[in-house]
Amino acid sequence: MIKFLMGAFITMMCLNAAYAVDEIMPMEHHVMNVTDARISLHLPERMKQHQLADMRAHLETIDSIVGLMAESKFAEASKLAHEKLGLTPEMQRMCNMLGNEKATAMGLAFHRSGDELGDALQTGDINRSLSALHNTMQYCVECHATFRQ
Ligand code: HEC
Repeated sequence: MIKFLMGAFITMMCLNAAYAVDEIMPMEHHVMNVTDARISLHLPERMKQHQLADMRAHLETIDSIVGLMAESKFAEASKLAHEKLGLTPEMQRMCNMLGNEKATAMGLAFHRSGDELGDALQTGDINRSLSALHNTMQYCVECHATFRQ
């Protein structure tokens, strides 16, 4: 009997907490799934930190490119896109190490789009550049929605 009451009490407390969380963060509650259904790449431990560091560098590069575009420094932005987002031998190697054919293909396509972004920026055409940036960032979104480490 005591066990039953304890159980009922704990259940009530948990439900209460769940409702409280729902009130504070209704958005997160509905957007986030409790289970992560994305495909795991099963990256080996030695690759994980390197991959995340590359990712943070990608984000930083996007930020720099947007900033340079705002200052009409298209040549500089173009150089950055080719060097940091383009399909350099190092990025090619990294993508080939992802251990999943689809992820590798997505990664390579992403870096090719980085070179296209570099070409678009080189023209100094803002709309063309924004459209190329949008295209590149769609790979960020798509890959993150599909894969996790
Ligand atoms: C081919 C796949 C792929 C592409 C393309 C990609 N990412 Fe990622 N990114 C990942 C994976 C996998 C993780 C790890 C996510 C996880 O395990 O939850 C990650 C993580 C990150 C993180 C978290 C870093 C950290 O320290 O926790 C950032 C920031 C990030 N990516 C930025 C970007 C940006 C910006 C782009 C595009 C310019 C991009 N990524 C493109 C696969 C990709």
